Amino acid sequence: TNRTFTMIKPDAVKNGHIGAILEKITAAGFKIVAMKYTQLSLRDAQEFYGVHRERPFFGELVEFMTSGTIVAAILEKENAVEDFRALIGATNPADAAEGTIRKMFATSIGENAVHGSDSDENAAIEGSFHFAGREIY
Ligand code: GTP
Ligand code: MG
Repeated sequence: TNRTFTMIKPDAVKNGHIGAILEKITAAGFKIVAMKYTQLSLRDAQEFYGVHRERPFFGELVEFMTSGTIVAAILEKENAVEDFRALIGATNPADAAEGTIRKMFATSIGENAVHGSDSDENAAIEGSFHFAGREIY
């Protein structure tokens, strides 16, 4: 069993999809081992998305991710990273498979409802960015 990190992004929170998204996540067999309702500061978002600093959409991404509250969570399941990325679907909801979270709840490539870590290493880094050890159960 292992872990991934997710955020329900500001668009999905604003559109009232927190409950439906958590339902999809738990129905797919993920166990929530840490969770909080929070908002990223400018500095948080710039650091969290540091790998995208040189990308043309970086400014938009940071502006969007700081625009409202999010839900951050650590999820546990066998093969967590890969299975969670399959559950959320392609970055652009237009390309996302039927039944995936982004297909159902995302509005655009930028405002795409959820984040999912892309490797075990990044899952650990991102999880500890948001949660102290005593907040993980
Ligand atoms: P995350 O799970 O959020 O990391 O998405 P991803 O791994 O599917 O995509 P990637 O890491 O390449 O990009 C990170 C985030 O940047 C995406 O989820 C989008 O929110 C945003 N993003 C990516 N490409 C674009 C783009 O062309 N325009 C805009 N505005 N945002 C983008
Ligand atoms: Mg990514």
